[in-house]
Amino acid sequence: MADKLPVLAVLGGTGNLGLGLAGRWALAGYEVVIGSRAADKAIAAADELRKLCASRGRADARVSGKDNRAAAEASQIVALTVPFENQKAVLEVVKPVVQGKVFIDATVPLVPPRVARVQLPAEGSAGRIAQNLLGEGVKVVSAFQNVAADLLQSGDALDCDVLVCGDSKEAREQVVSLVQAAGMRGFHAGSLDNGAAADALTSVLIFVNKQYGCHAGIRLTGVPEGKS
Ligand SMILES: NC(=O)c1ccc[n+]([C@@H]2O[C@H](COP(=O)([O-])OP(=O)(O)OC[C@H]3O[C@@H](n4cnc5c(N)ncnc54)[C@H](OP(=O)(O)O)[C@@H]3O)[C@@H](O)[C@H]2O)c1
Repeated sequence: MADKLPVLAVLGGTGNLGLGLAGRWALAGYEVVIGSRAADKAIAAADELRKLCASRGRADARVSGKDNRAAAEASQIVALTVPFENQKAVLEVVKPVVQGKVFIDATVPLVPPRVARVQLPAEGSAGRIAQNLLGEGVKVVSAFQNVAADLLQSGDALDCDVLVCGDSKEAREQVVSLVQAAGMRGFHAGSLDNGAAADALTSVLIFVNKQYGCHAGIRLTGVPEGKS
């Protein structure tokens, strides 16, 4: 069964969110390639992640590390998990090798130092920036903006939902499956431009986290069980 699963790249996968997603997917049986600006850093992160997976009962986890471009090239689905200020630089590096692929953008357009204030870009959302730069040959889907990396990295059950936005229904469907594989409920949330709402919610959640000392997430209510 595992061989039928797509290979996943996590660009910037040496960081907080990327390690969390890569770990969840590896534990779910996916082959994961961690991407970094530096291949040796990616390889070291992959070594650590394999050990973590083994400690969580998955000694057969398939995790490797490459530079961002090679990771994207080696994978069928590519996720981007770098700070907003570095988004375009990484997109430029991988653009030639992600054509025809599903590209998950988890970038949130936060503008330090006021990260708890919504400051959306002129394009509307980070996902739209990615789509504009990568071109129509790439199926960009935005997701995971509202999930705390600390919770993903923990071995704990996750108690939050993920809004999945993209202009291709088929691509959204694949990402909803990856949300479920990572242990959450994922919902089709409309066009890529709707990702602006999830981008904006992140600043709201950062404010809530500071106010209440927590890792808040979002929950959709009223959706029948089994519809995620
Ligand atoms: N942290 C969260 O809880 C969370 C939750 C939801 C969404 N997000 C979003 O996910 C993205 C990543 O967040 P994070 O907390 O994981 O970030 P992070 O740990 O600070 O950075 C992630 C990775 O970005 C790469 N990077 C750093 N500077 C770079 C540069 N100048 N050029 C290219 N790559 C660079 C680094 O990888 P290499 O050095 O290996 O290249 C780093 O490990 C952000 O857009 C954030 O808003 C985060």
